[in-house]
Amino acid sequence: MKKMIIDADTGIDDALAILYALKSPSIKVEGITTVFGNINVEKATDNTLRMIQLAAPSYEVPVAQGAGKPLKRGNPQFGTHVHGANGIGNVEIPASAQQVLDEAAADFILRKSHELEGELILVTLGRMTNLAHAIEKDPDVCQRIKHVYVMGGAVAVPGNVTPVSEANIWGDPEAAELVFDSGVPLTMVGLDVTMKTLLTGEHLDRLQQACGEENDEMVNFIRESHRFYFDFYRSSNYFIDAAPIHDPLTILIAEDPSIVTTQQMNVKVVCDSELCSGMTVADLRRKSLIGSPINVCTNVDAALAVDRLLHAFI
Ligand code: BDR
Ligand code: CA
Repeated sequence: MKKMIIDADTGIDDALAILYALKSPSIKVEGITTVFGNINVEKATDNTLRMIQLAAPSYEVPVAQGAGKPLKRGNPQFGTHVHGANGIGNVEIPASAQQVLDEAAADFILRKSHELEGELILVTLGRMTNLAHAIEKDPDVCQRIKHVYVMGGAVAVPGNVTPVSEANIWGDPEAAELVFDSGVPLTMVGLDVTMKTLLTGEHLDRLQQACGEENDEMVNFIRESHRFYFDFYRSSNYFIDAAPIHDPLTILIAEDPSIVTTQQMNVKVVCDSELCSGMTVADLRRKSLIGSPINVCTNVDAALAVDRLLHAFI
């Protein structure tokens, strides 16, 4: 059983990632921490609570709210053009009565890192601000966490916010730099693999036909929210009739790393450049002179990943 904290800016693909994690028999979700990103942190928290209620009302997953703005920069930037004004494709689902913890996300991560020393897996699906705050407070957390899986970055492919930068790194590069340079064991699940792992309308049709009655509401939500996501990917710069499963893939990899190939590279996060801010530069020279050693996902068994994702709801 993999013991995970999921750190999310709960938009459309984060929501699917959370639903999957709550359904997977090999994952124990120890808590969910929230962060600004796709939407503001209050909406991310609210969406998270709704997802828990939708997937597993009796699961008792603690939720701790985290950063509402980047580590060092001014105003946060949001991705509502990708995820809708409410972050979940403008789909309305019932609110939850669950209370958020009276503990900040960074403190929750620190506490759980003591309780589950050597076992805790942290999966970041948004800006890395919460983990950066935790490391600033107590750098030894890096020795207690077993592994961090980060959805973010791009090494050999273009960015998705700028020509070179992926959204989660671009939205708080100083936090990403701090985490990458902290020495915490880290796997980067970047656009190199997530853009290869596509969910299509046909997948969702198949899912609806196959799902049991108990998962009806959840599958309806997945279909409805993905309508918005598909529209974005169809009409934006991508022109594809599908949506990459950035965040669910990161959970799938944390659950079973054998679905990807990885290569250790020295990676440097660019912070101080107007054009390249948020870029993850891999120093592939024979002798790397910049960056910190990071496991970078370079290839994925995309069909297997999508299959496993869908299977959880059948
Ligand atoms: C990442 O940015 C957000 O829009 C998604 O939720 C995902 O975490 C992809 O770049
Ligand atoms: Ca996300």
